[in-house]
Amino acid sequence: MCGIVGYTGKRSAAPVIVEGLKCLEYRGYDSFGLAVTDCESAAKSDAGGLAVIKKQGRISDAGRDVTLLNGNTGIGHTRWATHGVPSDVNAHPHTDCTGDIAVIHNGIIENYAELKRSLIAEGHTFKSETDTEVIAHLLEKFCNAADADGLIGEERIDFAVKSLMETLEGSFALLILIRGFSGLIAIKRFSPLVLGIGDEELFASSDMTPILEHTQKILFLEDDDYAYLMPEGIRVFSYPSGDAVEREVKTVDWDVESAKKGGYDFFMEKEIFEQPAVFVNSFRQSIDDKAVSVLKKASSITVVACGSSYHAGLVFRYLAEKYCKIPVRVEIASEFLNFAIAKGTAVIAVTQSGETADTLAALRHAKASGCPVFAVTNVLGSSVTRIADHVLYTRAGPEISVAATKSFIAQCAVLMRIVSVLGKGIFEKELFEIYPVLEETLLFDPAGASAVCKDAENIFYVGRGVYYPISLEGALKMKEITYIHAEGCAAGELKHGPFSLLTPETPVIAVCTKDASYPVMISNIKEMKARGAPVIAIGSAGDKDLKEIADIFIPLPKSENICEVISATIILQMIACNTAVLLGRDVDKPRNLAKSVTVI
Ligand code: AGP
Repeated sequence: MCGIVGYTGKRSAAPVIVEGLKCLEYRGYDSFGLAVTDCESAAKSDAGGLAVIKKQGRISDAGRDVTLLNGNTGIGHTRWATHGVPSDVNAHPHTDCTGDIAVIHNGIIENYAELKRSLIAEGHTFKSETDTEVIAHLLEKFCNAADADGLIGEERIDFAVKSLMETLEGSFALLILIRGFSGLIAIKRFSPLVLGIGDEELFASSDMTPILEHTQKILFLEDDDYAYLMPEGIRVFSYPSGDAVEREVKTVDWDVESAKKGGYDFFMEKEIFEQPAVFVNSFRQSIDDKAVSVLKKASSITVVACGSSYHAGLVFRYLAEKYCKIPVRVEIASEFLNFAIAKGTAVIAVTQSGETADTLAALRHAKASGCPVFAVTNVLGSSVTRIADHVLYTRAGPEISVAATKSFIAQCAVLMRIVSVLGKGIFEKELFEIYPVLEETLLFDPAGASAVCKDAENIFYVGRGVYYPISLEGALKMKEITYIHAEGCAAGELKHGPFSLLTPETPVIAVCTKDASYPVMISNIKEMKARGAPVIAIGSAGDKDLKEIADIFIPLPKSENICEVISATIILQMIACNTAVLLGRDVDKPRNLAKSVTVI
């Protein structure tokens, strides 16, 4: 997830773009760049080209030089790397061979590798490791083809844009400058892109935040729209017809802070609602053949991780052992050095930040012991990527809230992908089609469950099988943002001690879907009820029996068991988040916690 900003109008573009990028740093901040052109000179196609500046690092640390680029039309980008580590050369904008085309991009080009190979074969030279750079070279190719056909002006641009949209697969919000075209080109497919209409000036951005500083008149593009922002105004067209379309201009009275949160009160809420796309983007990735063969050869797999990432590792264990018959251990990273490592073990570090000191130490220990080492992480170029032999990336984008939500879901997606690949495609179809199930899950209203939880001093979360780690994760969410003591427990373990803590004031949240553990889970829930504990049960759609015995029954959307694992997790996140809101907690920055624990 990156931040993109475009401007054309009466003012110098660079200062406006730089301030806009600073508003978008929460979307990505490992590198930044701008390209500007002077509208008048751009109109004279033999005039000066594009001025481009791009660097690794945060825009907020950039010097004044970036604001001195001269031109009243420009584009700017602040990056969250997905392809190619953070570096000057991988920063956006990306240009074609001539330097006459500059592109910035938010999204993922799924077919970039084959496009890059064919462009190289046609003589294009690439500078970066990114997927985005193929877009600049494709535009160069299509503009040259338009020239050969004698197309000029807007016809030339139309041809290039439509050819590009026909060729690219994946998600993209693009802002493009093409020398000789006196405007800004905006293209939208599956990534957010909005336009702003000011007084003799026009804006484009990944979200409204930078635009609201200047105007409240917002135009929302739709998927497969492309638009030209020109001195005379905005024109929007729809691909593939090329027909001009009218998009409603709305007056938005959000302040900048609420715009950063997409209108939600907290980043945690926003990040919970990003999860359908995050899961799909993270699951739909191929895994390097070498990595697969190393895992297949391993006598066993050990996962090392902390906190939510540790819980994701436990989810992986249940699925890998069941579907791939691979022995899996999951160790809390800070305890890992106490144990011997069996010969032939492959070790996977799961870490959102890629900087958790305990996890890094554990992985270094595994590497020093001769194990093949892997990392599942959300941050390109993070420390863990420099230790691991193989890196698999979650595609969650920056997670601002301290509590892990979308990063946990993304980790589950990647780990489920590994299981699916090692398990000869097991549940690949179901998870490829999970998006609408998760969208429906987000319709859940947590008010009833939160009302029960908010006054509790202790809350138990119970489940069996894969719902044991999901219970641990649900409890962690609740305790870390509400400060209520919450404990995850294997449902079968309650009778071995925790039962003594059950009272009518001790809610139990039980995940009890219609899987193999269902009959015994029903018995466990009846035992809890018999001790007076209020039970909030999360179960499969239409489960009348569970609804009958629970105090609150939360039905999951109708789906395969494997999809219920993710939708149940989202329900637990929503209950915790809403309870914290009811208690007036600092949801995004809970006391005593840091987003990344870089000390042992
Ligand atoms: C979970 O909500 C917390 N943010 C925390 O437990 C986190 O999962 C843990 O610190 C591990 O962080 P990492 O994934 O960046 O290594």
